[in-house]
Amino acid sequence: MKQNKYDDSIFFDKYSNMERSKKGLEGAGEWHELKKMLPEFKDKRVLDLGCGFGWHCRFAIENGAKSVVGVDISQKMLKEAKNKTKSEDIQYICMPIEDINFPDNSFDMVISSLAFHYIESFQDILNRINKCLSSGGDFVFSVEHPVFTAQGTQDWYYDNQGNPLHWPVDKYFTEGTRKAVFLGEEVIKYHKTLTTYLNDLIKAGFEITGLVEPKPAEDLLYTVPGMLDELRRPMMLLVSSRKK
Ligand SMILES: C[S@@+](CC[C@H](N)C(=O)[O-])C[C@H]1O[C@@H](n2cnc3c(N)ncnc32)[C@H](O)[C@@H]1O
Repeated sequence: MKQNKYDDSIFFDKYSNMERSKKGLEGAGEWHELKKMLPEFKDKRVLDLGCGFGWHCRFAIENGAKSVVGVDISQKMLKEAKNKTKSEDIQYICMPIEDINFPDNSFDMVISSLAFHYIESFQDILNRINKCLSSGGDFVFSVEHPVFTAQGTQDWYYDNQGNPLHWPVDKYFTEGTRKAVFLGEEVIKYHKTLTTYLNDLIKAGFEITGLVEPKPAEDLLYTVPGMLDELRRPMMLLVSSRKK
């Protein structure tokens, strides 16, 4: 199933009000780690899968990329991305990631931030990425961490006073659909184990070059509500790899 939750007006408005939507990359808790994993952009042809408001697309161009293609299923997200973009070297395409079918060797780098947990088959996406990425090309992505997606509801267990007691991890080895609650709305996400993410990458012909379970940047801990609790369990998994 290809879900397009970000075109739902209520969800879109709530997402647009998040710190990371208003402030961009500097408002994203994992950015200080992800940016260290990104290779040199100079003269590269870049593909951003699930580009949303296009923050990473613009970062790529500002850092010397030759061209960027941003793919997203949501027209609302892309409309805002276009409004925020001045460069003519960024092209936005409205389509599901599951349907990408670019010619061989179209890109030198593929990036994706927090989109693959909306996709059922990681293996299928990897084959499509492998096809369009040049040999030796970089593939860097973030997803919600399997510890975060396993149980499904994506919320803490609370005590009687409403304090978070612990994060539930359950059904870890049962991969597939989860009805998650994100921003108070029901959203379908797909849980995959850490083994699946890493082994699928290796099987698809990628060499893993880095792995980070990011903690929030120090300066966000006391300025963004709820950030301190992000030190209690991993929320994201960041992976850098290279096509062999
Ligand atoms: C959490 S947002 C991340 C946006 C952006 N990458 C960022 O980090 O700022 C997830 C994005 O993935 C997009 N998305 C979700 N499922 C998708 C799919 N099947 N195909 C294409 N885009 C998808 C959503 O529309 C949304 O823009």
